[in-house]
Parts: sequence; structure tokens; C-alpha cells
Amino acid sequence: MKSMMLVVALLMGTAGQAQTIVYTAARMLDVASGQMIEQPVIVAENGRITGVGRQGQLAVPDGRRVDLGNVTLLPGLIDMHVHLSSDPTLSGMQALRYPASFWTAIGVAMAGKTLAAGFTTVRNVGSANFDDVGLKLAIERGSVPGPRIVPATYAIGATGGHCDNNALPAEYGYDRRGIADGPEALRAKVRELHKYGAEVIKFCATGGVLSLGTSVGAQQLSLAEMTALVEEAHMLGLKVAAHAHGTAGIKTAIRAGVDTVEHASFADAEAIDLAKKAGTWFSMDIYNDDYILAEGAKNGLDEQNLAKEREVGLRQRQAFQAAWRAGVKMVFGSDAGVYPHGDNARQFAKMVEWGMTPIDAIRAATIKAAEALGREGDVGQIAPGRMADMIGVAGDPSRDVASLRDVKIVIKGGVLMKDAR
Ligand code: ARG
Repeated sequence: MKSMMLVVALLMGTAGQAQTIVYTAARMLDVASGQMIEQPVIVAENGRITGVGRQGQLAVPDGRRVDLGNVTLLPGLIDMHVHLSSDPTLSGMQALRYPASFWTAIGVAMAGKTLAAGFTTVRNVGSANFDDVGLKLAIERGSVPGPRIVPATYAIGATGGHCDNNALPAEYGYDRRGIADGPEALRAKVRELHKYGAEVIKFCATGGVLSLGTSVGAQQLSLAEMTALVEEAHMLGLKVAAHAHGTAGIKTAIRAGVDTVEHASFADAEAIDLAKKAGTWFSMDIYNDDYILAEGAKNGLDEQNLAKEREVGLRQRQAFQAAWRAGVKMVFGSDAGVYPHGDNARQFAKMVEWGMTPIDAIRAATIKAAEALGREGDVGQIAPGRMADMIGVAGDPSRDVASLRDVKIVIKGGVLMKDAR
């Protein structure tokens, strides 16, 4: 039923965009003020919002009227950390049995699930085969349903690091496209990935949980290397996301000038202070731990990965709480792909449990994420000038973020992509 809706929406896609649409609904959450607006009306022209107000108060132009009924509208959600072409149920060594084309196909399916879950924009921070670039193009032309994608293409990293694949012996040549060592090679790698479609640069500053043979706390690139990479990316107008769990790697990445620190698990008081002073965003995937510990073994993860997760999970949540309390800027990044796509919104409850108010958690996935992307003119708010990306849920998500797990309406660029009322 839901997928039928997506097909219908796709077929109507272009026709739906080239007109004025006047949307009404029972309520709208204004994420900027935190206010609930009763009986809102939103006007969209050619996929962008041109007017927002209260029914009867805002003068609306002629156009197609779409009443979305008894839902609360809010901006389409933004997930700053996903891997669309990963499937958590195929983890560990078994993943190596599938060709690149398989993962591209997985990406198509997961893009649909992500959109249906209310995420209208995602940053895809690492995939092989440039499949996020192709996926983005196919979604943009309306060939397949999916969110707006900011693709990183390959995650860049040192030989043997978390962004490398260390599962196979030397004689099995593995795709090393994301690997670079030394400042000059890292600069060249940024240029190469940018040439083939990267719109954000992701790199691994430290070891990770789900890689083999890496120490999660260990730094994996020097300050000189990170600085060169960041300088090059910024020169090209790209933002930089650093995967960093370990304390030294987090600090070095911040000093090198990265825009977002992903995971930030072992951030200590000094790292938090550095982030605050530099205006660096933290994107912390604090739901993951529950899923990995419950399902990881069954999904094929190695015991060394599970052991690392047990080391990281609680520490990361404590760091999240401390960073938020201290005033570090934060965005919503789930690392979906490590847990099932479409369940992205499960993380909201964790963010509330660990210190955010519901509206702060929602802002992290809307206005704040848009700001961190440098796309505040485009996405993240139901406001004139921005894309008509809106979702509808039952109830009041600013009281209970659990309502975000059951998205009834998805509109992307003025096109109704899902109607499950
Ligand atoms: N991709 C991340 C890594 O392998 C996932 C970390 C998940 N664990 C967590 N507690 N956030 O390092």
C-alpha cells in the first residue's frame, strides 16, 4: 500500500511541481519558535514555499487545494549521517560475498524507506562505487523515490584505518578508492572525489567500532594530514565530516577545522570546549548501541566489534549529555545502515532521554541540520523560500517524539510522496 503511494506520487511528480498548491492541515509545529500553529495554510509554488500563515488570515492565491487533515505538519526531517547502500542484517564477512551492484540496488530500496520515514534530506557519509551519486541523480529526475542526498562518495582514510577494509588478506585486492596517506595524497583524494560528485567530504580521524583491527580510541591521521584535507575541501566549497570516537582524534579534527564530528564518543571536557569555541557541530549516533548489542551477533558482526561497542555505547551517551549541557551545537545523525533504514526516528527518544527537550531534538533534525549543511535557504523549516518538504504525524511531536516514528504524510518539493492517513 505504502509503496503504491510512492509510485503514484512519482508518476505525478513533475505535474505536481509545476503549479501552485495550497496545503491546509489541523496543526503545524513551527520548529523555530517551538509554537504549535492551529489551522495552518502553506502555499507552495514550483516546489518552494511562498507563504505560511493561519487559515482565514493569509491571503492565498488560486491553486490546487490539498487538505492534509488531522495531522501535525513539521519540516521534512534531515539525517546527517546515513549509509543508504548498507544493510545491517548483512554485516561482517558475509557482506563481502555481494558485488558492488548489489549494494547499489540496496541503496535504491533504502532511499525509499528513508523517505517514507519522513527524512526528506540525508547526508550519505560513505559508500563505495559512487552509488550515492547515481542514486541522487535518479531521485532528482524522479526515476526512484528517495530523499535529497548530500553524497560524500567514498569515506577517506588511512591505510588500515576505519575507512579501509581490513577483513581480507593482501592477495585479495580490495577497492582502495577512499584510501590516502600523507597531506598531499589526501588533497588529491579530495579533488578526485569532488570531481566525481562528492558534495561533502567524510574522513576517518580515528578507529571505529565496526571495522576489523582498529582501536576505536586511536587517532589515524596526523594534524598535518587532517588540516590539508580540510583546507582542500573548504577551498572547493565542501564541508567536512570527521568520523572520530577517540579523544585525541576528536580534538585534532576540531583543530584541523572540520565542520561536523561524527560519533564523538570519547569527547572529554577539553574536546567539548574546543568544539564550542570553534563552532564545530557534533553528530552523535546514540541509538545505535541498543541495536548493535541486540542484533549484531546475529547480523554477522565479529566478537571484536561487539567488544568495542560495549566500550563505546554508554560513554558516548554520557558525552552527548555533557556536550549538549555545555552548549555544543548538535545535529541529528543516526548512522542508519548500521541499524535499519526507516527506523531513523528511533533516535529522537534517546536524545530526549539524554538531555534534550523534544523541540531541541526536532531542531537538530531540521533547522540545525540545515544550518550545518549550509542549506538554511533550502531545507529544514516550513518557511517562505525553502523547499516544500513537509511531513505530517499524529499528535504533538514537541511533547512526544515517539510520534515521529509513524509518519503519515510526506511531501517533498511540493510533491505528495506518501499519504498513509
Ligand atoms: N559506524 C560506527 C563505527 O563503526 C558505528 C558506531 C556505533 N556505535 C555507537 N555506539 N554509536 O564506529
